[in-house]
Amino acid sequence: MRQVVARPDRLEGEVTPPGDKSISHRAAIFNGIAHGTARVANYSPGGDCASTLRCLRALGVNILRDHSGPRLLTIHGTGGVLREPVQVLNAGNSGTTMRLLAGVLAGSSFLSIITGDSSLRTRPMDRVVQPLRAMGAHILGRHGNSLPPLAILGGNLRGIEYTLPVASAQVKSCLLLAALLAQGETVLHQPAASRDHTERMFKAMGAHLEEEGLTLRLRPGGLAANDIRVPGDISSAAYWLVAACAHPNARVTVRNVGVNATRTGVLDALRMMGARLTVENPREEGGEPVADIVAESSSLEAIEIRGDIVPRLIDEVPVLAVAACLARGETVIRDVAELRVKETDRIKTVVAELARLGAEVRELPDGLVVRGPVSLRGGRCQSYGDHRLAMSLAIAGLVGPGPVEVQGAEAASVSYPGFWEDLALLAGRGAGVAA
Ligand code: S3P
Repeated sequence: MRQVVARPDRLEGEVTPPGDKSISHRAAIFNGIAHGTARVANYSPGGDCASTLRCLRALGVNILRDHSGPRLLTIHGTGGVLREPVQVLNAGNSGTTMRLLAGVLAGSSFLSIITGDSSLRTRPMDRVVQPLRAMGAHILGRHGNSLPPLAILGGNLRGIEYTLPVASAQVKSCLLLAALLAQGETVLHQPAASRDHTERMFKAMGAHLEEEGLTLRLRPGGLAANDIRVPGDISSAAYWLVAACAHPNARVTVRNVGVNATRTGVLDALRMMGARLTVENPREEGGEPVADIVAESSSLEAIEIRGDIVPRLIDEVPVLAVAACLARGETVIRDVAELRVKETDRIKTVVAELARLGAEVRELPDGLVVRGPVSLRGGRCQSYGDHRLAMSLAIAGLVGPGPVEVQGAEAASVSYPGFWEDLALLAGRGAGVAA
């Protein structure tokens, strides 16, 4: 599917992003292995979180759609006793599904095989395979046990003390899940803070978890089912925040956005660029901070992004690169080599596709440099099946003078199935999108 996006004279209105993808995966997996029954509201409608539900069902978890509310699930916890799957598990495009479930499967005394789509089958799994093997799991994968599919013979794990080589919430969460099912304590040292949704939810579900700075200690034990309302996804909200700040005549309100400090790097970066952002109605939902955010046309300045802020905005780098095209000066983004092992090599694909649209952008080994402001002339570009690239390129069409044709636009549905409708809503009927 292709979408053509042209800049409207005015960008205006309110949107509510879908439920947070990271929190949704965790709510489903953790309640799936917990004792008791939980209701999860505002579960992400995206393809990735559907992959998690599909795998959990194949492992014997009973999950029902509850029609008394939107995106409401009832999950009957298995108390940690999953069923050996009769088929290969398919994590689709979702790295979070594969890495988090690898931790659960490593602790389960049966054989399972987990695979994914052509993108996921190129993504590194050694970062979870190595420490899970050190805990006693038997895991094989392609390419020297580093690539999917993974074959896992689980059970009889022992706790470990381990220093994570990358600041990855997926690796941390995988190991914490395995640690619940191991003998003895597990201690994890993180090189930098990454999103802490697992830690928050584990504590709410009664896990024996202690945090001292960047070190986590977990003693094994069961989880107790916990009802949760999932906040809106700040990674989805980011497209509208950038669009409003970079458009010459815009005011957009994004409602019900999760503003957990381990995820708000995009707000900090935009503010450093001079963005007019207002955070309203701060509140708490499901053990997570939530707010509404108003973004308005702004005069943007180039900044440098590197260091500790990076894990707090890693998924927003593609759309921040679009903001940088409209900002005065040279924006330098470093320390983001992890982008090379996301759904695509996002350093390469962002640089290639923004350059096609007229951006002055170049690749660094661990990042990119964007010179602005440029008048994006638009043109035809490609998502390569990467949801965040598809949506970022659409925002380039929304804020630049030349229309942008995004090929592979359907990729947005991996995290944000309503993206194109919300775009049309903000751009005004007929002004923004033509299929
Ligand atoms: C995620 C962690 C991040 C992020 C991904 C979701 C999670 O990946 O990029 O979109 O839900 O734990 P890494 O753990 O690989 O950094």
